[in-house]
Amino acid sequence: MHDLDVGGATRANSLEEHWMPFTGNRDFKINPRLVVKGEGMYYTDHKGGRVIDGSSALFCSPAGHARPEIADAVSAQLRENSYTPPFQLGHPGSFELARRVAGLLPEPLNHVFFVNSGSESIDTALKIAMAYHRANGQAQRLRFVSRERAYHGVNIGGVSLAGMVKNRETFPVTMPNVVTMRHTFTGKELFCDGQPQQDGVELANDLERHCQTYGGSTIAAVFVEPVAGSTGTLVPPVGYLERIREICDAHGILLVFDEVITGFGRLGAPFASQLFGVTPDICTMAKALTNGSIPMGAVAVRDEIYETVTDASPENAIEFFHGYTYSAHPAACAAGNAALEIYRSEALFDRAAELAPYFKDAMMSLRDHDLVTDIRTIGMMSGLEVAHDGVPGRRGQEMQKTLFWNGCHVKFTGDTAIVAPAFVAERAHIDEIVDKIRKTLDQAKG
Ligand SMILES: Cc1ncc(COP(=O)(O)O)c(C=O)c1O
Repeated sequence: MHDLDVGGATRANSLEEHWMPFTGNRDFKINPRLVVKGEGMYYTDHKGGRVIDGSSALFCSPAGHARPEIADAVSAQLRENSYTPPFQLGHPGSFELARRVAGLLPEPLNHVFFVNSGSESIDTALKIAMAYHRANGQAQRLRFVSRERAYHGVNIGGVSLAGMVKNRETFPVTMPNVVTMRHTFTGKELFCDGQPQQDGVELANDLERHCQTYGGSTIAAVFVEPVAGSTGTLVPPVGYLERIREICDAHGILLVFDEVITGFGRLGAPFASQLFGVTPDICTMAKALTNGSIPMGAVAVRDEIYETVTDASPENAIEFFHGYTYSAHPAACAAGNAALEIYRSEALFDRAAELAPYFKDAMMSLRDHDLVTDIRTIGMMSGLEVAHDGVPGRRGQEMQKTLFWNGCHVKFTGDTAIVAPAFVAERAHIDEIVDKIRKTLDQAKG
């Protein structure tokens, strides 16, 4: 017997069937938090409450929710052409989107491979690094370098690079030959606005030590989030990224920036690479590529990487044996083109840069609270660390729920709130988010 009638008596209103990701399923299903509407800076929950969005959902909606321009573009695309196989066929939207993305990136990152998520962008970047070195006569480069506290998504490639214990400990079978550098949070400069001043070169020299230990010529690529996002906004110290670039150049190692969170204006520049003045060889992105409206990610590479891989194959041959059924899906491309047009026409990256000092002051106003142990900010992104209550992560999880019922959504990782409002926020929205966080901190203090 199949029950196709989801409104039927047997399963009416059941929440059991959906196994939710990164969620305490049992707890959630007792007291669910459902969003039934999103508009601009606000969600509406299933009880009719208004919830201001303090994290741009999951850092993916800088233009605010339910933008009609994107909905219209996707709807028109689905009516015109809802799907084209991306292998050996194409459609105009993907080429337009690739041109737009390349136009936002620093030179010479001019070739863009489309995927469906940040996790897929990491797997794809790993494969591009392998394909490039093989095509370049350096097939012995089979080691990858990552970092403690790194988050690169949840596919086996990303988990192999991950530095967050909960995301790894259940899944010990990962890629071999991955070594990690230290993370960049030293705790020496608390309540830091922007880049810490100390230890940048010293921390980056972990990469040089790996080169000395394993041989630089065996390392294919190093993956870093320019600002580690999911682990709580860990901003690189002054000189860190520059030194990583220098070591990569000295040893022929590819530098991959994972800009899944930092891309598309989050730091007030189109990409973190422009803000920090360090250009990677490969750049991964997702989330804000479509303003979060349709799943999509991308990997941009330097011209020389694309040319080396493509030129290594005989003419007319497929050069890179990789791709997804939904790579460059027409609906996702329509959403991406519409989102990027909004960012351009409303100058939203400039707006993020203009709003950032106000946002920083508002966040730093919470430093007097007894439960707050650190606040880090850069651009429109901030990590607010709360003292744990004896069990790491428990207070953060409770606070996320209380905050929601106080009318504000913020993403917590462990006991750290990651606050990252949309760029369309007004100052009054920032104030509302911070007021609600303070109220929730007061309640958590008891
Ligand atoms: C830096 C980084 N890389 C990769 C990912 C994975 O992206 P997705 O959840 O779209 O697979 C994330 C998600 O938060 C991320 O922050």
